[in-house]
Parts: sequence; structure tokens; C-alpha cells
Amino acid sequence: MAIQALLVYNITQHNDKGQAQISAFVEAFKKFNVNLMALPNSQIVDYTDQHPNAFSFAVFWDKDIHISTYLEEELHMPVFNSKESIMTCDDKALTYLAFRNYSIPTPKTIILPYTFDINVLNYYDEVKTMIAKLTYPFIVKERFGSYGEQVYLVHSEEEFKALLSKVGKKPLLVQEYIAEATGRDYRVNVVGHEVITAVERYNPNDFRSNVNQGGTMTEVKLSPKLKKLAVDAVRAVGADFAGVDIVLDKDKKPLVLEVNTNARTLSVEKATGIYLTWYIARYVRHHFLRPRKIGLIAR
Ligand SMILES: Nc1ncnc2c1ncn2[C@@H]1O[C@H](COP(=O)(O)OP(=O)(O)O)[C@@H](O)[C@H]1O
Ligand SMILES: [Mg+2]
Repeated sequence: MAIQALLVYNITQHNDKGQAQISAFVEAFKKFNVNLMALPNSQIVDYTDQHPNAFSFAVFWDKDIHISTYLEEELHMPVFNSKESIMTCDDKALTYLAFRNYSIPTPKTIILPYTFDINVLNYYDEVKTMIAKLTYPFIVKERFGSYGEQVYLVHSEEEFKALLSKVGKKPLLVQEYIAEATGRDYRVNVVGHEVITAVERYNPNDFRSNVNQGGTMTEVKLSPKLKKLAVDAVRAVGADFAGVDIVLDKDKKPLVLEVNTNARTLSVEKATGIYLTWYIARYVRHHFLRPRKIGLIAR
């Protein structure tokens, strides 16, 4: 008999791109005798409340953490990726701390103070002291953001203040700019402890390599060292499968920017011909009954 499982997606994904990704998950899991029922985050609590034993596990293609908390803690459902790992990856400040904790090389980063609904610009003197070690240009990131949309390159104090006046109420971090990597990075796709495929993303028109900003993907072969770094980064944040963004600095030293627990698989499949979603389905199918070993690495 087929296994029944849940696919949680965000209500904002009711569009062509979102639906294509949802279908890709459903099709891939079918190949492992799993029927995924796709539901938006708005319907999960109601549905599982009425059918508490309907699903053996959940695939969580969302970041709405209270739902995975409910699934994991109240319904004791295995959830992939886990609540902890999605939380860590969603917040770039927590990602940075996980990287530090596991000695994953990453650009120099300063997390600005959280200021509730008050613009951090009101505390500019303090901010200036905090970022004194960085030189312009530097990168500013909203701690919660994706597709490169909340990542800014700042060339001067004037620009920095102008940016803060716009986004200074949000949680932010400031980061060393790796100029040699302008518009270029690796997106390494890891499932379990294995690199399935990697692409180089290049955008000649912007410092951000994201496909949403105009970047294009080309398949690359990575050195064993780079592969190991990507797997270690995924383990540091405790994810089961993820896309890892890595840049090379002026000495060709790799620095990990972030780990994406909710990456789309279809664009990678198109660029590489590798059926990444199939690997994710296979991994989850084989691991949902077993305690996960992810996240434990020797320091
Ligand atoms: N410190 C940095 N130095 C140089 N380029 C960067 C740096 N941080 C981010 N970028 C560029 O911006 C892109 C988006 O940043 P990232 O941290 O991955 O945020 P997002 O979650 O929006 O993808 C990266 O893929 C990279 O091309
Ligand atoms: Mg990214």
C-alpha cells in the first residue's frame, strides 16, 4: 500500500512557478510509492486536526514555523526539513552563528541590534562603532529575505544611512563584500551527506547571482574539498537537504553565504539534467522511520 504523506507549501505559491514545484515533489515521491497530499499553510492545522493520523511524515516546503512546530511536537510527525533547520536558515543571523559554531568559513559579519519597530538609524553612533572593522563597499542584508531581494551593496556612509532610513526597522546584518565574487557563486545541492549536483550562477548585470536577479546557471564539477564544505554547512544547520551558496574570495578560498532549506529544484534540474527532486524523495522515503543523524559533526 502506498504511504500517505503531507506536502506543506506556502499560500503565496498559488502561482505557476509554485505549482510546478509542488507537482515536481508529488511526482518524485510517487516513484517511491508515497502519495503526497499538497496543502497550503492556511489549511494544515484544520486538516490534521480532523485527520491526525493521516500522514506518515511531512515535506515542509515553507517557512511558517509554527506549523512545523505543531506537526513535530503535537502530532509527532517527522518533518523534512526540520523546524530547527528551517528556522536557522531563514534567519541569516542564526545561520551565521551556526557557521561560527561549526567553523564553516563565511564572510566577516556583524549582526545589528534588534530594535522592535524603531529605526536603527536612531542609534547610528552605536552602529558605526559596531561596523568599524568593515570598509566600504559592504553588504547589508535583511536577516529574513530570499531571491537576493533583501540584499544590498552599500558604497558610502551616505548610501548606508539612506538605506537604513528605508529598511532600518527590520532586523539587519552587515557583511564584508567579497568583490572578487561579484555576480558569481556556486549553488551546491546537497541531499543527506551527498552533493547531488552543483551549478555556477553568473549575473553580468548585478552583484547578486540569484536567478531572480538575472543570474544563469551552468553545471560545474566541484573539488572534493568544496563538496565537503557544502555538506558540512548543511550539517551545521541541521538540514536534510538544501542548496548551499558559496563564493570564492581573492585567494580562491571558499566562503559559505547561506544554506537554503526551501530551494526550488526545477531550475537546477533544467540546468543540469539531474533529477534533484528524485534524490530528495528517495532520501526522505528512506529516512522518515529512522532517527536522523544530521547535524552532528565533530568540531
Ligand atoms: N558578502 C557577499 N559578497 C559578495 N556577494 C554577496 C555577498 N553576500 C551575498 N552576495 C551575493 O548576493 C546573492 C544573494 O545573497 P544571499 O546571502 O544568498 O541571500 P538570498 O537569500 O537573498 O539569496 C548571493 O548569491 C551573492 O551573489
Ligand atoms: Mg542565496
